[in-house]
Amino acid sequence: MKTLIAILGLTAMLGAADGAALYQKCAACHGLKGEKAALGKSEVIAGWNSAKTLEALKGYKAGTRNTKGMGALMKGQTAALSDTDMKVIADHIAGLK
Ligand code: HEC
Repeated sequence: MKTLIAILGLTAMLGAADGAALYQKCAACHGLKGEKAALGKSEVIAGWNSAKTLEALKGYKAGTRNTKGMGALMKGQTAALSDTDMKVIADHIAGLK
C-alpha cells in the first residue's frame, strides 16, 4: 500500500504529460517493460510502433476495439486519458525493450 501511495505521489509530481508516469498504472498488467501478455490475453506491446498503439488506445476508449474479449477492461483503463496522454504513453511504449 505504501508503495502504491508513493507511485501515485510520484505520478502527480511528474505531471500528466510524462509517459513513464502515465504508464505506471499499465505496468501491473503489461509489465514494467511492456514484456507481458496482460492477463495472459493481450499481445506483448513492448516496442509497438507509436501510431499502432495510439490507434489501439483510441479504439478502446471509443469502445470499438476488442481483440481478445477484454476490450471493456481496456475501455476502463483509457477512459480518463486525453488524446495527448495516449500519444505520450504510445511514445513511451515504443521505446520499451
Ligand atoms: C487490468 C489489466 C490491464 C491494465 C491495467 C492495462 N491493460 Fe492494456 N490490455 C489488457 C488486456 C486484457 C488487453 C486485451 C484487450 C482486448 O481484448 O482487446 C489489453 C490490450 C492492450 C493493448 C492492445 C494489445 C493487443 O493485444 O491488441 C494495448 C496497446 C494496451 N492494452 C495498452 C495499455 C495501456 C497503455 C495501459 C495503461 C493506460 C493498459 N493497457 C492497462 C489488460 C490491461
